Amino acid sequence: MNFKELKIGASTALIPIVQGGMSVRNSMAALAAAVSNAGGIGVIGASGIDAESVMAEIRRCRELTTGIVSVNIMYVLTRFAEIVEASIQAGADLIFTGAGFSREVYKMVEGTKTQVVSIVSSARAGLLAEKLGAKAVVVEGTEAGGHLGTDRSIDEIFPEVRAAVKTIPVLAAGGIMNGFDIAKYLKMGADGVQMATRFVCSNECSAAHAFKQMYMNSHKEDIVEMKSPVGMPGRAIRNKLIREIEDGTVKRERCEIKCLKSCSRLYCIYERLMLAMQGDVENGLVFSGANAWKIKEILPVAEIFRQLLGELESVPA
Ligand SMILES: Cc1cc2nc3c(=O)[nH]c(=O)nc-3n(C[C@H](O)[C@H](O)[C@H](O)COP(=O)(O)O)c2cc1C
Repeated sequence: MNFKELKIGASTALIPIVQGGMSVRNSMAALAAAVSNAGGIGVIGASGIDAESVMAEIRRCRELTTGIVSVNIMYVLTRFAEIVEASIQAGADLIFTGAGFSREVYKMVEGTKTQVVSIVSSARAGLLAEKLGAKAVVVEGTEAGGHLGTDRSIDEIFPEVRAAVKTIPVLAAGGIMNGFDIAKYLKMGADGVQMATRFVCSNECSAAHAFKQMYMNSHKEDIVEMKSPVGMPGRAIRNKLIREIEDGTVKRERCEIKCLKSCSRLYCIYERLMLAMQGDVENGLVFSGANAWKIKEILPVAEIFRQLLGELESVPA
C-alpha cells in the first residue's frame, strides 16, 4: 500500500517510521542517524546520560545525517528540565517525552526551533497534549518495551486516541515488527508508527551483542511485565533479575545518583539497565517489547527499512 510522508511541525520524514528512543545508551547517535538517513525519524535515548553527553550525541547525530535529529526524555527524571534545555541548546528538531506527563515542556520550547511530541496511552492524555502544543502524539500500548503507561493493547487504545486528536499526527506504537503491522495501523488512520524493539537487533544499536542475542533467543512467554522502581510497570525479558524481583530477593543497591523524581529503591534501575546494555543480561534489566521473540537476525538499519517497505508496499490498498 502507498503511504504519505510524515510531517511533525516543521520536520518532514519521507517514511512514516519513528525509531523509539531507548535508554540507557541503547539508541545513541549512530542508530538515530541511520534511521533518519533511511528516511524515518531516529531518536536518541537521552535518559540516563548527563546534559553534556546529550548535547554531544545531538551534535554527532547532526554530523551523521541531514535528516531529523530527535531525543527522547523521560519525565520521571530528576534532571528532566536540564536535559530538555540541553537538547534545545544543541538544536534538536524534536523532543519525545514519555513516562509521565510534562506540562512545562511545551512552554520551554516556545520561541525555539525544537518541537515536542508526547507519548500517551489514553485519549485524555492525547487531547491534553494537543491542547498544550504537542506537534504529534505517539499512542503506546501495553505491547511496548520499557515503562508502560497502560495495561491495554494498542489495538484498543489507538482508535480512541485517533478519534479524539484531530489537528496533529497520531502514531501507533507497541509490538509493531514488520511492514504488515505498519500497514494495519496506517489503515486504522495512523499517520505513522513508532518501533523500538526491531531496531535493537540492528548493527547500529549500541547494546552489547549479548543483549541482541537475548532478544533472538527469547520465546513469547519469556517477555513479561515487571515492577520498576519508577512506580510504573515495565516490559522486559525474564532473567535472573526478574526472578529476584518476583520472589522478593532482589538486592537493594545504594543510590548514588538520585536520577528519578520518585524511586521505590527496590533496586537501581539505572545500574541494571546499564549492566544489560553492556552485556550482563542476567543481572541487568533487558527491556523489550512483547514481540522481540519474532526477530531472527541482526541487520543494518538500511536493510531493516528495505524489508519493512517491501512488506508494506506488498499490502493491497
Ligand atoms: C530497550 C528499550 C528501552 C526503551 N527506553 C525508552 C525510554 O528511555 N523512553 C521512552 O519513552 N520509551 C522507551 N522505550 C519504549 C520505546 O521507545 C517504544 O515506544 C516501544 O518500545 C515501542 O514498542 P516496540 O518496542 O514493541 O516497537 C524503550 C524500549 C526498549 C525496547
